[in-house]
Amino acid sequence: MAKAKKTTAFFCQECGFESAKWVGQCPACKAWNSMVEEPLKMAPAAAKGISPLVAQEAVSLADIPDRKERRIPTGFSELDRVLGGGIVEGSLTLLGGDPGIGKSTLLLQAAAKIASEASPVLYISGEESLQQIALRATRIGRMPAELKFLCETDLDRIEAAADKLRPAVMVVDSIQTMSAPSVEASPGSVSQVREATGRLMRLAKESGIAILIVGHVTKDGTVAGPRVLEHMVDTVLYFEGDRYAAYRVLRGVKNRFGSTNEIGVFEMCGEGLIEVPNPSEYLLDGRPSDASGAVVTCSMEGTRPLLVEVQALVTKSSFGFPKRQAAGTDFNRVSVLMAVMEKRLGLPLSQYDAYVNLAGGIRQREPSLDLGIVMAILSSYRNEPVSSGVVAFGEVGLSGEVRAVTMAELRVQEAAKLGFTTCILPKANVRKMKQVKGITLIGVESIAEVRKS
Ligand code: TYD
Ligand code: MG
Repeated sequence: MAKAKKTTAFFCQECGFESAKWVGQCPACKAWNSMVEEPLKMAPAAAKGISPLVAQEAVSLADIPDRKERRIPTGFSELDRVLGGGIVEGSLTLLGGDPGIGKSTLLLQAAAKIASEASPVLYISGEESLQQIALRATRIGRMPAELKFLCETDLDRIEAAADKLRPAVMVVDSIQTMSAPSVEASPGSVSQVREATGRLMRLAKESGIAILIVGHVTKDGTVAGPRVLEHMVDTVLYFEGDRYAAYRVLRGVKNRFGSTNEIGVFEMCGEGLIEVPNPSEYLLDGRPSDASGAVVTCSMEGTRPLLVEVQALVTKSSFGFPKRQAAGTDFNRVSVLMAVMEKRLGLPLSQYDAYVNLAGGIRQREPSLDLGIVMAILSSYRNEPVSSGVVAFGEVGLSGEVRAVTMAELRVQEAAKLGFTTCILPKANVRKMKQVKGITLIGVESIAEVRKS
Protein backbone atom coordinates (compact mmCIF):
# COMPACT_ATOMS: atom_id res chain seq x y z
CA MET A 1 0.00 0.00 0.00
CA ALA A 2 1.37 3.44 -0.89
CA LYS A 3 1.96 5.69 2.04
CA ALA A 4 -0.13 8.85 2.20
CA LYS A 5 1.97 11.90 1.43
CA LYS A 6 2.80 13.93 4.50
CA THR A 7 1.27 17.37 4.39
CA THR A 8 2.43 18.84 7.66
CA ALA A 9 5.74 19.23 9.45
CA PHE A 10 6.90 20.67 12.74
CA PHE A 11 8.70 23.99 12.72
CA CYS A 12 10.69 25.59 15.51
CA GLN A 13 9.11 29.01 16.05
CA GLU A 14 12.43 30.39 17.27
CA CYS A 15 14.82 29.46 14.48
CA GLY A 16 12.69 27.85 11.78
CA PHE A 17 14.14 24.33 12.08
CA GLU A 18 11.96 21.78 10.33
CA SER A 19 11.33 18.32 11.70
CA ALA A 20 9.08 15.45 10.59
CA LYS A 21 8.25 14.54 14.18
CA TRP A 22 7.46 16.60 17.22
CA VAL A 23 10.37 17.03 19.61
CA GLY A 24 10.43 18.75 22.98
CA GLN A 25 13.65 20.62 22.36
CA CYS A 26 14.70 22.07 19.03
CA PRO A 27 17.90 20.25 17.93
CA ALA A 28 19.17 23.39 16.17
CA CYS A 29 18.67 26.28 18.61
CA LYS A 30 17.96 24.25 21.78
CA ALA A 31 14.76 26.15 22.53
CA TRP A 32 12.27 24.14 24.57
CA ASN A 33 8.70 23.56 23.53
CA SER A 34 8.99 25.63 20.37
CA MET A 35 7.88 23.09 17.75
CA VAL A 36 4.50 23.76 16.15
CA GLU A 37 2.80 21.73 13.43
CA GLU A 38 2.26 23.64 10.20
CA PRO A 39 0.99 22.65 6.77
CA LEU A 40 3.70 21.93 4.23
CA LYS A 41 1.68 22.56 1.10
CA MET A 42 2.71 25.68 -0.74
CA ALA A 43 1.42 27.21 -3.90
CA PRO A 44 3.81 26.77 -6.84
CA ALA A 45 4.71 30.47 -6.76
CA ALA A 46 5.90 30.19 -3.20
CA ALA A 47 7.74 26.92 -3.65
CA LYS A 48 9.91 27.96 -6.54
CA GLY A 49 12.23 30.11 -4.44
CA ILE A 50 13.82 33.36 -5.47
CA SER A 51 12.56 34.48 -8.84
CA PRO A 52 15.09 35.68 -11.39
CA LEU A 53 15.52 39.33 -10.53
CA VAL A 54 17.53 41.44 -12.90
CA ALA A 55 20.62 39.76 -14.23
CA GLN A 56 20.13 36.40 -15.84
CA GLU A 57 23.37 36.34 -17.76
CA ALA A 58 26.70 36.26 -16.03
CA VAL A 59 28.29 39.70 -16.10
CA SER A 60 31.52 41.19 -14.88
CA LEU A 61 31.30 43.63 -12.01
CA ALA A 62 32.80 46.45 -14.05
CA ASP A 63 29.69 46.42 -16.24
CA ILE A 64 27.35 47.20 -13.37
CA PRO A 65 26.58 50.88 -13.80
CA ASP A 66 25.65 52.52 -10.50
CA ARG A 67 27.94 50.98 -7.94
CA LYS A 68 27.37 53.49 -5.18
CA GLU A 69 24.19 52.66 -3.30
CA ARG A 70 21.78 55.50 -2.78
CA ARG A 71 20.84 56.22 0.80
CA ILE A 72 17.88 57.98 2.31
CA PRO A 73 18.61 59.82 5.56
CA THR A 74 16.06 58.97 8.26
CA GLY A 75 16.31 62.24 10.16
CA PHE A 76 17.64 60.39 13.20
CA SER A 77 21.43 60.52 13.13
CA GLU A 78 21.55 57.67 15.67
CA LEU A 79 19.47 55.45 13.38
CA ASP A 80 21.48 56.52 10.32
CA ARG A 81 24.72 55.58 12.00
CA VAL A 82 23.52 52.10 12.90
CA LEU A 83 22.31 51.63 9.32
CA GLY A 84 25.70 52.75 8.02
CA GLY A 85 24.59 56.20 6.81
CA GLY A 86 20.87 56.04 6.02
CA ILE A 87 18.46 53.52 4.52
CA VAL A 88 19.73 51.97 1.29
CA GLU A 89 17.32 52.09 -1.63
CA GLY A 90 15.78 48.72 -2.37
CA SER A 91 17.00 47.18 0.88
CA LEU A 92 15.06 45.09 3.35
CA THR A 93 15.67 45.89 7.01
CA LEU A 94 14.33 43.96 9.98
CA LEU A 95 13.79 45.78 13.26
CA GLY A 96 13.41 43.26 16.08
CA GLY A 97 12.62 43.79 19.73
CA ASP A 98 10.38 42.91 22.63
CA PRO A 99 6.76 44.05 22.42
CA GLY A 100 6.29 47.54 23.81
CA ILE A 101 9.91 48.58 23.49
CA GLY A 102 9.11 51.32 20.97
CA LYS A 103 9.61 49.82 17.50
CA SER A 104 6.43 51.29 16.05
CA THR A 105 7.22 54.65 17.61
CA LEU A 106 10.75 54.72 16.16
CA LEU A 107 9.60 53.80 12.67
CA LEU A 108 6.66 56.17 12.74
CA GLN A 109 8.93 59.05 13.72
CA ALA A 110 11.49 58.09 11.08
CA ALA A 111 8.72 57.73 8.48
CA ALA A 112 7.42 61.20 9.31
CA LYS A 113 10.88 62.71 8.97
CA ILE A 114 11.57 60.98 5.67
CA ALA A 115 8.18 62.05 4.32
CA SER A 116 8.75 65.65 5.33
CA GLU A 117 11.79 65.64 3.03
CA ALA A 118 9.29 65.06 0.21
CA SER A 119 9.91 61.33 -0.22
CA PRO A 120 6.62 59.44 -0.19
CA VAL A 121 6.38 56.88 2.61
CA LEU A 122 3.83 54.11 3.07
CA TYR A 123 3.23 52.86 6.61
CA ILE A 124 1.41 49.54 6.75
CA SER A 125 0.05 48.41 10.06
CA GLY A 126 -1.37 44.99 10.67
CA GLU A 127 -1.56 45.49 14.42
CA GLU A 128 -3.22 48.78 15.07
CA SER A 129 -6.26 50.58 13.70
CA LEU A 130 -5.95 53.98 12.06
CA GLN A 131 -7.38 55.55 15.21
CA GLN A 132 -4.66 53.99 17.35
CA ILE A 133 -1.98 55.18 14.95
CA ALA A 134 -3.48 58.65 14.90
CA LEU A 135 -3.42 58.68 18.68
CA ARG A 136 0.27 57.84 18.74
CA ALA A 137 0.94 60.36 15.97
CA THR A 138 -0.59 63.20 17.98
CA ARG A 139 1.92 62.50 20.76
CA ILE A 140 4.80 62.61 18.32
CA GLY A 141 3.86 65.69 16.33
CA ARG A 142 2.67 66.75 12.92
CA MET A 143 2.45 64.10 10.22
CA PRO A 144 3.37 65.27 6.71
CA ALA A 145 0.94 64.67 3.84
CA GLU A 146 3.48 62.52 2.00
CA LEU A 147 3.14 59.87 4.72
CA LYS A 148 0.30 57.49 3.92
CA PHE A 149 -1.16 54.84 6.20
CA LEU A 150 -2.76 51.54 5.37
CA CYS A 151 -4.21 48.96 7.73
CA GLU A 152 -3.76 45.70 5.92
CA THR A 153 -2.44 42.20 6.47
CA ASP A 154 -2.97 40.66 3.05
CA LEU A 155 0.27 40.67 1.06
CA ASP A 156 -1.45 40.70 -2.33
CA ARG A 157 -3.19 43.94 -1.46
CA ILE A 158 -0.03 45.40 0.09
CA GLU A 159 1.87 44.72 -3.12
CA ALA A 160 -0.90 46.37 -5.12
CA ALA A 161 -0.84 49.42 -2.84
CA ALA A 162 2.95 49.70 -3.11
CA ASP A 163 2.66 49.46 -6.87
CA LYS A 164 0.09 52.24 -6.98
CA LEU A 165 1.76 54.65 -4.52
CA ARG A 166 5.40 53.93 -5.44
CA PRO A 167 6.78 55.08 -2.08
CA ALA A 168 10.51 55.56 -1.48
CA VAL A 169 10.23 53.83 1.88
CA MET A 170 7.69 51.35 3.16
CA VAL A 171 7.20 50.24 6.77
CA VAL A 172 5.55 46.89 7.54
CA ASP A 173 4.43 46.62 11.17
CA SER A 174 4.67 43.75 11.99
CA ILE A 175 5.78 40.80 9.86
CA GLN A 176 4.02 38.39 12.22
CA THR A 177 0.61 39.78 11.30
CA MET A 178 1.13 39.56 7.53
CA SER A 179 -0.20 36.70 5.48
CA ALA A 180 0.13 35.51 1.94
CA PRO A 181 -3.07 33.84 0.74
CA SER A 182 -0.99 31.28 -1.16
CA VAL A 183 0.22 29.75 2.10
CA GLU A 184 -2.20 27.80 4.25
CA ALA A 185 -0.50 28.30 7.62
CA SER A 186 -1.81 30.93 10.01
CA PRO A 187 -0.20 34.39 10.31
CA GLY A 188 2.83 34.37 12.60
CA SER A 189 3.79 30.79 11.79
CA VAL A 190 7.23 30.04 10.42
CA SER A 191 6.03 29.23 6.89
CA GLN A 192 3.86 32.33 6.71
CA VAL A 193 6.51 34.68 8.09
CA ARG A 194 9.11 33.28 5.70
CA GLU A 195 6.85 33.55 2.71
CA ALA A 196 5.85 37.12 3.60
CA THR A 197 9.49 38.14 4.03
CA GLY A 198 10.47 36.48 0.76
CA ARG A 199 7.79 38.39 -1.08
CA LEU A 200 8.74 41.69 0.52
CA MET A 201 12.38 41.02 -0.42
CA ARG A 202 11.36 40.51 -4.03
CA LEU A 203 9.26 43.68 -3.94
CA ALA A 204 12.17 45.69 -2.51
CA LYS A 205 14.68 44.43 -5.08
CA GLU A 206 12.37 44.79 -8.07
CA SER A 207 10.88 48.16 -7.25
CA GLY A 208 13.76 49.82 -5.38
CA ILE A 209 11.50 50.59 -2.42
CA ALA A 210 13.38 50.47 0.89
CA ILE A 211 11.31 48.27 3.17
CA LEU A 212 11.55 48.23 6.95
CA ILE A 213 9.83 45.37 8.72
CA VAL A 214 9.06 45.04 12.41
CA GLY A 215 9.49 41.65 14.09
CA HIS A 216 8.49 40.94 17.65
CA VAL A 217 10.76 38.86 19.78
CA THR A 218 8.64 36.34 21.59
CA LYS A 219 9.60 34.15 24.47
CA ASP A 220 6.68 31.74 24.46
CA GLY A 221 7.04 30.61 20.85
CA THR A 222 3.46 31.43 19.88
CA VAL A 223 4.62 33.35 16.83
CA ALA A 224 7.77 32.96 14.82
CA GLY A 225 10.56 35.19 16.08
CA PRO A 226 12.84 37.46 14.02
CA ARG A 227 15.63 34.86 14.19
CA VAL A 228 13.73 32.86 11.58
CA LEU A 229 14.31 35.61 9.03
CA GLU A 230 17.65 37.07 10.00
CA HIS A 231 19.40 35.32 7.13
CA MET A 232 16.84 36.46 4.56
CA VAL A 233 17.06 40.21 5.01
CA ASP A 234 19.84 42.73 4.26
CA THR A 235 20.02 44.38 7.64
CA VAL A 236 18.97 43.29 11.11
CA LEU A 237 18.61 45.79 13.92
CA TYR A 238 17.52 45.07 17.46
CA PHE A 239 15.90 47.63 19.68
CA GLU A 240 16.54 46.78 23.28
CA GLY A 241 16.58 48.16 26.75
CA ASP A 242 14.71 47.86 29.96
CA ARG A 243 11.03 48.53 29.40
CA TYR A 244 10.90 50.40 32.65
CA ALA A 245 14.02 52.48 32.12
CA ALA A 246 13.70 55.36 29.69
CA TYR A 247 16.67 54.73 27.49
CA ARG A 248 16.76 52.34 24.53
CA VAL A 249 19.68 50.98 22.54
CA LEU A 250 19.47 50.25 18.84
CA ARG A 251 22.03 47.67 17.83
CA GLY A 252 23.05 46.44 14.40
CA VAL A 253 23.32 42.64 14.27
CA LYS A 254 23.75 42.17 10.54
CA ASN A 255 24.34 44.78 7.89
CA ARG A 256 25.07 44.17 4.23
CA PHE A 257 25.74 47.89 3.77
CA GLY A 258 27.77 48.84 6.79
CA SER A 259 29.36 47.83 10.06
CA THR A 260 27.48 45.96 12.78
CA ASN A 261 29.44 47.46 15.63
CA GLU A 262 27.46 50.62 15.94
CA ILE A 263 24.78 51.43 18.47
CA GLY A 264 22.27 54.26 18.66
CA VAL A 265 20.90 55.47 21.94
CA PHE A 266 17.41 56.89 22.37
CA GLU A 267 15.28 58.00 25.23
CA MET A 268 11.53 57.36 25.40
CA CYS A 269 9.70 60.43 26.60
CA GLY A 270 6.17 61.79 26.45
CA GLU A 271 6.56 62.95 22.85
CA GLY A 272 8.09 59.79 21.46
CA LEU A 273 11.75 58.92 21.14
CA ILE A 274 14.54 61.47 21.31
CA GLU A 275 18.15 60.86 20.42
CA VAL A 276 20.86 60.77 23.06
CA PRO A 277 23.93 62.06 21.22
CA ASN A 278 26.23 61.68 24.22
CA PRO A 279 25.29 58.48 26.04
CA SER A 280 28.28 58.61 28.41
CA GLU A 281 26.99 61.78 29.98
CA TYR A 282 23.58 60.21 30.22
CA LEU A 283 24.84 57.01 31.83
CA LEU A 284 26.90 58.84 34.42
CA ASP A 285 24.08 61.19 35.38
CA GLY A 286 23.28 61.08 39.10
CA ARG A 287 26.51 59.33 40.07
CA PRO A 288 27.29 59.40 43.79
CA SER A 289 30.49 61.37 44.38
CA ASP A 290 32.13 59.44 47.20
CA ALA A 291 30.49 56.07 47.57
CA SER A 292 32.70 53.04 47.92
CA GLY A 293 32.45 50.35 45.27
CA ALA A 294 31.75 52.66 42.33
CA VAL A 295 34.30 53.04 39.53
CA VAL A 296 33.84 54.56 36.09
CA THR A 297 35.20 52.54 33.21
CA CYS A 298 35.25 53.01 29.47
CA SER A 299 34.18 50.35 27.02
CA MET A 300 33.74 50.58 23.27
CA GLU A 301 30.60 50.10 21.23
CA GLY A 302 31.92 49.94 17.70
CA THR A 303 33.85 53.13 17.18
CA ARG A 304 32.17 54.84 20.06
CA PRO A 305 33.59 55.04 23.58
CA LEU A 306 31.02 54.62 26.31
CA LEU A 307 31.71 55.57 29.90
CA VAL A 308 29.82 53.41 32.38
CA GLU A 309 29.85 53.16 36.11
CA VAL A 310 30.63 49.75 37.59
CA GLN A 311 29.15 49.24 41.02
CA ALA A 312 30.14 46.49 43.39
CA LEU A 313 28.86 45.55 46.78
CA VAL A 314 30.96 43.13 48.79
CA THR A 315 29.57 41.93 52.10
CA LYS A 316 30.51 39.22 54.55
CA SER A 317 28.73 36.03 53.62
CA SER A 318 26.35 34.74 56.24
CA PHE A 319 26.24 31.23 54.81
CA GLY A 320 29.11 28.93 53.99
CA PHE A 321 28.48 29.39 50.31
CA PRO A 322 29.21 32.90 48.99
CA LYS A 323 26.64 34.51 46.74
CA ARG A 324 27.66 36.16 43.48
CA GLN A 325 25.51 38.23 41.19
CA ALA A 326 26.19 40.26 38.07
CA ALA A 327 23.75 42.58 36.32
CA GLY A 328 24.66 44.05 32.94
CA THR A 329 27.89 42.12 32.64
CA ASP A 330 29.12 38.55 32.43
CA PHE A 331 28.57 36.60 35.64
CA ASN A 332 31.36 34.10 34.87
CA ARG A 333 33.77 36.92 34.20
CA VAL A 334 33.05 38.42 37.61
CA SER A 335 33.64 35.03 39.27
CA VAL A 336 36.96 34.62 37.44
CA LEU A 337 38.09 38.12 38.40
CA MET A 338 37.25 37.46 42.05
CA ALA A 339 39.25 34.22 41.98
CA VAL A 340 42.18 36.12 40.45
CA MET A 341 41.95 38.74 43.22
CA GLU A 342 41.79 36.06 45.87
CA LYS A 343 44.89 34.32 44.56
CA ARG A 344 47.01 37.27 43.45
CA LEU A 345 46.08 39.84 46.08
CA GLY A 346 45.54 37.37 48.90
CA LEU A 347 42.08 38.68 49.75
CA PRO A 348 39.68 36.25 51.47
CA LEU A 349 36.94 36.95 48.92
CA SER A 350 35.53 33.42 49.09
CA GLN A 351 34.01 34.39 52.43
CA TYR A 352 32.23 37.38 50.91
CA ASP A 353 29.08 37.81 48.86
CA ALA A 354 29.53 40.06 45.83
CA TYR A 355 27.06 41.92 43.65
CA VAL A 356 28.29 43.68 40.52
CA ASN A 357 26.12 45.98 38.48
CA LEU A 358 26.55 48.32 35.50
CA ALA A 359 24.61 51.48 36.30
CA GLY A 360 21.88 52.64 33.96
CA GLY A 361 20.78 49.16 32.95
CA ILE A 362 23.32 48.97 30.14
CA ARG A 363 24.77 45.62 29.07
CA GLN A 364 28.47 45.34 28.29
CA ARG A 365 30.83 42.40 28.01
CA GLU A 366 34.03 43.89 26.71
CA PRO A 367 37.24 42.63 28.43
CA SER A 368 38.35 46.21 29.04
CA LEU A 369 35.76 46.39 31.84
CA ASP A 370 37.89 43.99 33.92
CA LEU A 371 40.04 46.58 35.63
CA GLY A 372 37.00 48.66 36.53
CA ILE A 373 35.30 45.60 38.03
CA VAL A 374 38.42 44.68 40.03
CA MET A 375 38.75 48.23 41.36
CA ALA A 376 35.06 48.43 42.27
CA ILE A 377 35.24 45.13 44.18
CA LEU A 378 38.40 46.25 45.94
CA SER A 379 36.88 49.60 46.82
CA SER A 380 33.78 48.01 48.29
CA TYR A 381 35.79 45.36 50.13
CA ARG A 382 37.92 47.99 51.82
CA ASN A 383 35.03 50.43 52.06
CA GLU A 384 37.17 53.17 50.56
CA PRO A 385 35.72 55.28 47.77
CA VAL A 386 37.65 55.81 44.54
CA SER A 387 37.95 59.49 43.64
CA SER A 388 35.20 60.59 41.28
CA GLY A 389 37.76 62.02 38.84
CA VAL A 390 39.17 58.58 38.09
CA VAL A 391 38.37 56.39 35.13
CA ALA A 392 39.92 52.92 34.73
CA PHE A 393 40.00 50.33 31.97
CA GLY A 394 42.10 47.33 30.98
CA GLU A 395 41.85 43.59 30.54
CA VAL A 396 42.90 41.48 33.52
CA GLY A 397 44.57 38.13 32.87
CA LEU A 398 44.60 35.09 35.10
CA SER A 399 47.96 35.91 36.66
CA GLY A 400 46.66 39.31 37.60
CA GLU A 401 48.43 41.12 34.78
CA VAL A 402 46.75 44.13 33.17
CA ARG A 403 46.77 43.71 29.40
CA ALA A 404 46.51 46.26 26.62
CA VAL A 405 43.16 47.04 25.03
CA THR A 406 42.25 48.47 21.63
CA MET A 407 41.49 52.12 20.89
CA ALA A 408 42.90 53.33 24.21
CA GLU A 409 43.41 56.85 22.94
CA LEU A 410 39.75 57.27 21.99
CA ARG A 411 38.72 56.11 25.44
CA VAL A 412 41.05 58.54 27.17
CA GLN A 413 39.83 61.40 25.00
CA GLU A 414 36.22 60.65 25.86
CA ALA A 415 37.06 60.58 29.57
CA ALA A 416 38.92 63.89 29.31
CA LYS A 417 35.99 65.41 27.44
CA LEU A 418 33.67 64.54 30.31
CA GLY A 419 35.96 66.09 32.90
CA PHE A 420 37.83 63.09 34.29
CA THR A 421 41.30 64.01 35.53
CA THR A 422 42.99 60.65 36.08
CA CYS A 423 42.97 57.55 33.95
CA ILE A 424 44.28 54.19 35.12
CA LEU A 425 45.05 52.02 32.10
CA PRO A 426 47.38 49.24 30.93
CA LYS A 427 51.03 50.27 30.86
CA ALA A 428 51.39 48.77 27.40
CA ASN A 429 48.84 51.27 26.13
CA VAL A 430 50.50 54.26 27.79
CA ARG A 431 53.81 53.54 26.07
CA LYS A 432 52.30 53.97 22.63
CA MET A 433 50.17 56.95 23.46
CA LYS A 434 50.44 60.70 23.21
CA GLN A 435 49.52 62.78 26.24
CA VAL A 436 45.94 63.96 26.30
CA LYS A 437 45.35 67.43 27.70
CA GLY A 438 43.77 67.69 31.13
CA ILE A 439 44.08 64.06 32.14
CA THR A 440 46.88 62.24 33.97
CA LEU A 441 47.65 58.77 32.70
CA ILE A 442 48.69 56.08 35.18
CA GLY A 443 49.94 52.93 33.51
CA VAL A 444 49.67 49.69 35.49
CA GLU A 445 51.07 46.26 34.75
CA SER A 446 49.28 44.19 37.36
CA ILE A 447 46.37 44.47 39.74
CA ALA A 448 48.82 44.49 42.66
CA GLU A 449 49.77 48.05 41.64
CA VAL A 450 46.13 49.07 41.79
CA ARG A 451 45.86 47.79 45.33
CA LYS A 452 48.66 50.05 46.49
CA SER A 453 47.22 53.21 44.91
P1 TYD B 1 5.45 50.98 20.72
O1 TYD B 1 6.14 51.78 19.70
O2 TYD B 1 3.98 50.74 20.53
O3 TYD B 1 6.16 49.57 20.95
P2 TYD B 1 6.29 48.33 19.98
O4 TYD B 1 5.85 48.72 18.63
O5 TYD B 1 7.76 47.96 20.05
O6 TYD B 1 5.45 47.24 20.56
O7 TYD B 1 5.73 51.74 22.09
C1 TYD B 1 5.10 51.36 23.21
C2 TYD B 1 5.50 52.06 24.48
O8 TYD B 1 6.05 53.34 24.35
C3 TYD B 1 4.23 52.22 25.26
O9 TYD B 1 4.40 51.52 26.45
C4 TYD B 1 4.05 53.67 25.45
C5 TYD B 1 5.39 54.25 25.22
N1 TYD B 1 5.36 55.59 24.62
C6 TYD B 1 5.84 56.66 25.34
O10 TYD B 1 6.29 56.54 26.49
N2 TYD B 1 5.85 57.91 24.76
C7 TYD B 1 5.37 58.12 23.50
O11 TYD B 1 5.38 59.25 23.01
C8 TYD B 1 4.88 56.99 22.77
C9 TYD B 1 4.31 57.16 21.40
C10 TYD B 1 4.88 55.75 23.36
MG1 MG C 1 4.12 48.10 17.63
